[in-house]
Amino acid sequence: MSFRAFVFLLGGGAFVAGGVFMLLAGHGMARLILFAGLFLFLYLLVRLIYRIVARQADAALKNPLTIAAQGFFDDLFDPMLSGLIRLLKEKHETSGRLAEVASRFEGVFENMVEGVVVTASNSQILMVNPAFERILAIPASEAVGNRLGIVVRETAIHQLVEEVFRTKNRVMRELGYRSRGAAKVLNVVATISEPRDGSGKSYGIFLFYDMTTIRGLERIRKDFVANVSHEIRTPLTSIRGYAEALSDGALADPELAKSFLGIISTSADRLSRLVNDLLELSRLESGTVDLRLAPIELGSLSDRLREEFSDRLSQKEMRLETDFSRPFTFVSDESLLHLVLVNLLDNAIKYSSPGSSLRLGATMGESGVQIEVEDRGMGIPEEELPRIFERFYRVDRSRSPAVPGTGLGLSIVRHVMTLLSGRVAVKSALGKGTTVSLHLPSRSLPSSSL
Ligand SMILES: Nc1ncnc2c1ncn2[C@@H]1O[C@H](COP(=O)(O)OP(=O)(O)OP(=O)(O)O)[C@@H](O)[C@H]1O
Ligand SMILES: [Mg+2]
Repeated sequence: MSFRAFVFLLGGGAFVAGGVFMLLAGHGMARLILFAGLFLFLYLLVRLIYRIVARQADAALKNPLTIAAQGFFDDLFDPMLSGLIRLLKEKHETSGRLAEVASRFEGVFENMVEGVVVTASNSQILMVNPAFERILAIPASEAVGNRLGIVVRETAIHQLVEEVFRTKNRVMRELGYRSRGAAKVLNVVATISEPRDGSGKSYGIFLFYDMTTIRGLERIRKDFVANVSHEIRTPLTSIRGYAEALSDGALADPELAKSFLGIISTSADRLSRLVNDLLELSRLESGTVDLRLAPIELGSLSDRLREEFSDRLSQKEMRLETDFSRPFTFVSDESLLHLVLVNLLDNAIKYSSPGSSLRLGATMGESGVQIEVEDRGMGIPEEELPRIFERFYRVDRSRSPAVPGTGLGLSIVRHVMTLLSGRVAVKSALGKGTTVSLHLPSRSLPSSSL
């Protein structure tokens, strides 16, 4: 009990006792004194009720569970206290629900893949999410508080902002955007939210989708179809042309007929090689190729390759030199490595002049095996090196139009090396020659095959 309450209690008691005494003595002021005492008691009682209510309210704000534990007061001061407590409980629950909704909204807003910008009706940015910062490479600190059309310095976005606020219609547009030197394709959807709460405020909502990867893939697919069609059409046209020429009379001239048939046969070869390479690439890309790991002896593999290329080598008066100690054994997938070496030797022979040398070298290192295919052929210009592994890419088609090829060989090599967890690198000097190095990681045999 506080000192003040104690004084009031003492004073009230004294007054009441004095009043009763004076009443008994028949004193005229007795009633007044008695009333004063009772007033002091009443004041104390009101203060007590006020304190209990305040303490309950305080507890209810901090933790509504404590209210249940003090049900005694609910009964005592009902309906005033329990009404107040119910009010507080509801307020507590409502603010809990609001906090939950807010945190859910925040979770969605923060983790959306699409960039979101909310602006006031004058296009001043009120909030942006992390995806917006990432896609447009603009930090929130630079965006919030400024106008959208100024923050995103792109004329098309400027126009889109202007249009959506003028027409109040949903506007959707795909546009190009440069962020830190990189060109992006963005799909922007803009809407105006109409005021619902009578506050009269409307907001601009802008969604940014990054379409760069999707559009890039579409371009690759289109290029691929265009390239395949071109590669098919060229030999088909010559097959058709020479076949027509034969039937139109060239057949009567045996010399001419022989040369036309030779062209038809080369074109058919070209077509079948193209189909085989495409099938090979799609098999490698399908992810269904199982590695068959086994010990490989590079000496016998190179003997086999020398045999397979014997005609081509002798036509070009070339010899395949090997440069590694025998036996040279390591673990990898022999048929996949064979596919890689066939493509590399094919290039080395194709892009070399007759009589030039050709070397297949290998060294065993700590991290794995290094295999090199080295030729002294025409070489590759330095600026072309980054592109030679692309599908259908051929260095300057005009420099060797007579050299057959579709530009798929090295992209098959790159795919296989990825499957083998290896690497491929090319060094070349124009007019001097080319060295392709393969690095294969050291492997041990899976325990099932031991
Ligand atoms: N050893 C090499 N010497 C010179 N140029 C090369 C060599 N290897 C590859 N190139 C260049 O790289 C390009 C791509 O090679 P890639 O093997 O992918 O295609 P290709 O040989 O033209 O056709 P394909 O292999 O499908 O028959 C070639 O067109 C050629 O210009
Ligand atoms: Mg090739």
